[in-house]
Amino acid sequence: MKIVSVEQMRQMDQTAISEFGIPDQLLMENAGLASYEKIRDRFDLQKDKFLIVCGGGNNGGDGLVVARKLFSNEAKVQVVLLSNPSKFKGSAHLNYQIAQQMKIPTQSIENAQDFETLLPAFDVIVDAIFGTGLDREVGGKYRDIIQAINRSGKPVVSIDIPSGINGNTGQVMGIAVKADMTITFGLPKLGNLLLPGFEYNGQLFVTHISFAPKIFNNPEVQTQTNDPVELPERPTDAHKGFCGKVLFVAGAANYLGAPYFAAHAFLKAGGGLSYLATPRQIASTIAMQGPEIIFQPLQATESGSIAHENLDFLLEFSEDMEMVIVGPGASLQAETQQLIRDLLEKSPKPVLVDGDGLTAVAKDPACIKFRQAPTILTPHPGEMARLLNISIGEVQKNRVEVLRRACKELNAIIVLKGAHSLIGHPDGRVYMNLSGNPGMATAGSGDVLTGTIAAMYALLKDPLLATRIGVFLHGLAGDLAAQKMGMDGLLAGDILQHLPEALQHYRR
Ligand code: ACO
Repeated sequence: MKIVSVEQMRQMDQTAISEFGIPDQLLMENAGLASYEKIRDRFDLQKDKFLIVCGGGNNGGDGLVVARKLFSNEAKVQVVLLSNPSKFKGSAHLNYQIAQQMKIPTQSIENAQDFETLLPAFDVIVDAIFGTGLDREVGGKYRDIIQAINRSGKPVVSIDIPSGINGNTGQVMGIAVKADMTITFGLPKLGNLLLPGFEYNGQLFVTHISFAPKIFNNPEVQTQTNDPVELPERPTDAHKGFCGKVLFVAGAANYLGAPYFAAHAFLKAGGGLSYLATPRQIASTIAMQGPEIIFQPLQATESGSIAHENLDFLLEFSEDMEMVIVGPGASLQAETQQLIRDLLEKSPKPVLVDGDGLTAVAKDPACIKFRQAPTILTPHPGEMARLLNISIGEVQKNRVEVLRRACKELNAIIVLKGAHSLIGHPDGRVYMNLSGNPGMATAGSGDVLTGTIAAMYALLKDPLLATRIGVFLHGLAGDLAAQKMGMDGLLAGDILQHLPEALQHYRR
């Protein structure tokens, strides 16, 4: 499913009006009707009393339509206006006039105390204060009223997006309504799905307001949910080679887990042959955990990380590989970091860079910028901040735009990890992944992701598709594990063990 920015949604509204002759009154009517229908299905119109809280923009106009539909169906309704009604424009103004003529109980609210006095008499609150027109921090009366709504303990229905959530970034603009259900129109907005906004929706419904299908096919809308796509069947005569060979350049004296999880996840996710090039001293210990991995013992530095002298061997060995994965547990040792940069710069193979490999790239991004073969990076927000030389706060404030910028600047497909991980392509496309759970924020989880993406690449030879499916499968494996054992104490090994089952579910 596509996900729109505030500007794109405005554009869609405008196209519906100018190209298809759908007047904005009709769009507002449809938005109000779609909301009314969801409210009718959830609540008891005979018994429940509805308080419709309207701001002064078109979101408030949508709220007035909801009030009219409820009122026409003989529900008990009260509209409260938070802005002077003389400020309503266009369709919102029209709907205000109709509400007046129909004598729908309406009251202008000047302060939060008056609002709190009203609250106890109602069973359901409809939040039509701000939609995507929110353009500044919420303060004053609006802040106090949203606080009162959140404290009321009553079910809250938000129209389009919970008031206070930024429609483009999902950020809370000071305070936001915590809804039980949100009814959005046409397509979900970025702010509905990005964290923390996502958690304020409650149950999210995407409804229709009679846009022509052509409107949804706008090629400029480049953010989509990471919906499952078909995975090719294994042929009956499949052999190890069919499922691909990859080389992991990973591990150091104190980092035995990361190379194991990555190289083993490749096999658990259906990859063919997993080669692990790692310091000689640790190879046999890792082999005890994962004997299915094939080891390429390397010369080590004094501190036990991969020495630079292995460069030519690694380049030569990788000639026969589908992909080279660089970085898990490779350490921050200066010589190893230089080896990683030289390997990335010189290797003509598709590469996936994770963990300590990302630190090496951050120090001198030129090592990947001019690569001809595909490059995939899998940073968490801290690593992304280092790659772009910005703060973690800046990354998290606008994850989609930061990701787009990074993909372009670094010429790479990038997974920005975190709840609802994002996958970006240098051409501007962004996919949002919805599988996974908070229990997966555990050591080694990222290494399992790396191996899973590598397995998908070995199978599909399409870097973007492989990354998308890999991220989805990794989340699904975590969800299956959490279903059985809960999220507390979920370990990377549990995610890894559930990869085959995740694949089975995925193929269904
Ligand atoms: N504090 C106080 N006021 C604020 C704040 C704030 N922090 N932030 C914004 N506002 C004010 C703005 O100044 C504006 O008021 P003004 O119109 O008096 O200048 C108002 O809040 C804007 O709020 P919204 O109602 O969120 O913005 P808009 O009028 O752009 O409507 C819309 C948003 C169109 C409803 C959007 O949520 C949307 O696209 N919804 C889906 C489609 C839809 O519902 N269409 C039906 C409407 S038809 C049409 O609009 C063309």
